[in-house]
Amino acid sequence: MKKIKILLGTVTGNARNVAQNIVEARQGPLENVELIENAQLEDLQHTGADECVLICSSTTGAGGLPKGLTPLYLTLRDNPTNLHGLNYAIIGLGDSVFRDTFCGGVKKLDTLLTRYGSQRIGNALLIDTPAHKNYVTLATDWLYALFREEL
Ligand SMILES: Cc1cc2nc3c(=O)[nH]c(=O)nc-3n(C[C@H](O)[C@H](O)[C@H](O)COP(=O)(O)O)c2cc1C
Repeated sequence: MKKIKILLGTVTGNARNVAQNIVEARQGPLENVELIENAQLEDLQHTGADECVLICSSTTGAGGLPKGLTPLYLTLRDNPTNLHGLNYAIIGLGDSVFRDTFCGGVKKLDTLLTRYGSQRIGNALLIDTPAHKNYVTLATDWLYALFREEL
């Protein structure tokens, strides 16, 4: 992948810690990374076949997305959009105490992206954040491994 665009959704900063670590890594497959705070539909549409969108988000409310990703989600939900050719990956941060809605926000987005024809790279990484104090390293290592497999 030539470039990774991180679409960030965070309330208290855990997902931002992950995203920033990935941005700062700047090595190998993670050399060209852009961080997008308030994602728009255009960010998905203007992504080339040699690029990848990384959804990096927590879940809030009862299975909802943080403010940075809610407008994009609602736009997609209400406007079926052809997203064939789009590659994406998912890092979700949640808390398993919320059993029924664990990482529900990114799961909803994942469902729409797949429905509209985009291709997820690997399985989503869903992190039970309180159980993983090293969640930043966990996520960054996972992403490296994912792209090593893809290249
Ligand atoms: C008000 C509130 C609601 C939450 N709802 C959920 C939820 O429905 N599902 C889930 O998996 N985690 C939920 N969480 C846990 C957060 O997603 C988790 O703590 C995450 O690490 C926060 O990341 P952030 O700092 O990037 O927002 C909730 C947390 C708060 C404070």
